[in-house]
Amino acid sequence: MKIEIVDKKLHEIQADIEIIFIIDKNLNHKWVKDKEELKKLGFMGDVEEVAFLPHQGRIYVGAKLDHDEIRIATAKALKTLKGKKFKTAKAGVYIQNCPITNIKAFVEGAILGSYSFDKYKSKSKKLELEKIILANEEYADKPFTLENAKKSIKEAKIVAKTTNFVRDIVNTPPNEIYPASFAKLAKEMAKEEDLEIDILDEKELKKEKMEAFLAVGRASAHRPRLVHLRYTPKNAKAKIAIVGKGLTYDSGGLSLKPSEYMVTMKSDKSGASAALGIIKAAKKLDIPVEIHAILGLAENMIDGNAYKPDDILTAKNGKTIEVRNTDAEGRLVLADCLCYAQEKVEPDFIIDIATLTGACVVALGEYTSGVMGHSDELRSSMLAAAKASGELAGELPFNRYLPKLLESKITDICNISSSRYGGAITAALFLSEFIEEKNKDKWVHLDIAGPAYREKEWGYNPYGASGAGVRMVIKWLQKEFVYDKKHP
Ligand code: BES
Ligand code: ZN
Ligand code: ZN
Repeated sequence: MKIEIVDKKLHEIQADIEIIFIIDKNLNHKWVKDKEELKKLGFMGDVEEVAFLPHQGRIYVGAKLDHDEIRIATAKALKTLKGKKFKTAKAGVYIQNCPITNIKAFVEGAILGSYSFDKYKSKSKKLELEKIILANEEYADKPFTLENAKKSIKEAKIVAKTTNFVRDIVNTPPNEIYPASFAKLAKEMAKEEDLEIDILDEKELKKEKMEAFLAVGRASAHRPRLVHLRYTPKNAKAKIAIVGKGLTYDSGGLSLKPSEYMVTMKSDKSGASAALGIIKAAKKLDIPVEIHAILGLAENMIDGNAYKPDDILTAKNGKTIEVRNTDAEGRLVLADCLCYAQEKVEPDFIIDIATLTGACVVALGEYTSGVMGHSDELRSSMLAAAKASGELAGELPFNRYLPKLLESKITDICNISSSRYGGAITAALFLSEFIEEKNKDKWVHLDIAGPAYREKEWGYNPYGASGAGVRMVIKWLQKEFVYDKKHP
């Protein structure tokens, strides 16, 4: 689907259908040409309410003047067109004083909202729309120039298409994506995008002393891999490591998940998938930062050689871990990957992204990611970036009492907490044990267990994978290293 802005008035553009956002509930805007009919239909212009008038060639959708509401409204309008024969649509950029963020939101909403994962369906209702044309209506020069708008549209396309790329990976079933095939996919992407890549197999992981990571992947026919991608632009302003949890399947291991909790665990690779997407988008957007994406890929399964509750593992940094639950496996993989990232990259910032705990979903609800870490500044810049990107994120605070819950009688640390409360935070505090003292304030942990995968549509997110983490971290990179402080 093509999306472009042209220097024409709306009425000069030929299209099969026009999309009209209703912000004024009195339907008083000059673009509302069907006021009487809309009233008869009982259309109130409420948020997400749609009135489709095919004979007039118009679709009305209720919205609010907020960038994320515009994403939602655009997605809603396009979903109405699924399975229908309209090929072209137009919309006026007449959203009062339309800030550039709203143009971006329109484009993102269109691309994110028209996504569906139907590769495995023999028949599916597709969006047949081929082109959306935005009219540069009455704001030819203010507050943006056409050139500005075109640049923003290009950016929004990169961000949204990358999010869809990540959604595709997460949605792909575990019989197709396992550590080796995920690594192959990363290699193909690296070649396409001209990124450097190292892939470590079990032998190399052994050499790196990543025994916690290896234990998790040991019982699977699909052996683990670590993927290290590098994007190294000239004159980089900073060096950033993005570490992603890539459990291509999490059965729980010997601490087996009940069947109803096991379904959807193909989504336990969402963190690694997001990290892959972020480095891809960063390259396409020319973000002036050296980025290392480190993906810990393993499958948590069962066989005679499976790691067990009671095992004692030694992580890459020499710390010993008492295993009391093999379903708390993500933190074991990440512990070694975080050590690897600090040793190999010496980063200025470390961001880890993981579907780490069900407790985070209990704490914040299923749409919101948890943001944790020692640095107040880093946490709040990430929360602000999430908000600006349209992702929902909330802070979960550390305190001086919680680390005690991870104490073990026989090792340096235990892989689960002794309390049933605060599980998202204690999981993050476990990871913190593998962050060197000098790096504590450089690290932020994103628990995306809630929003990464939902079995129902929400806003512009489809059934299944949402691509959580991608837009938030890209926006953080842009806000920190690209935009000036006044940029929205
Ligand atoms: N992958 C899960 C966490 C998860 C839960 C992701 C729900 C997405 C949706 C993780 O490996 C896990 O099983 N965590 C356990 C930890 C517990 C054993 C301390 C959990 O959350 O129950
Ligand atoms: Zn688990
Ligand atoms: Zn897991």
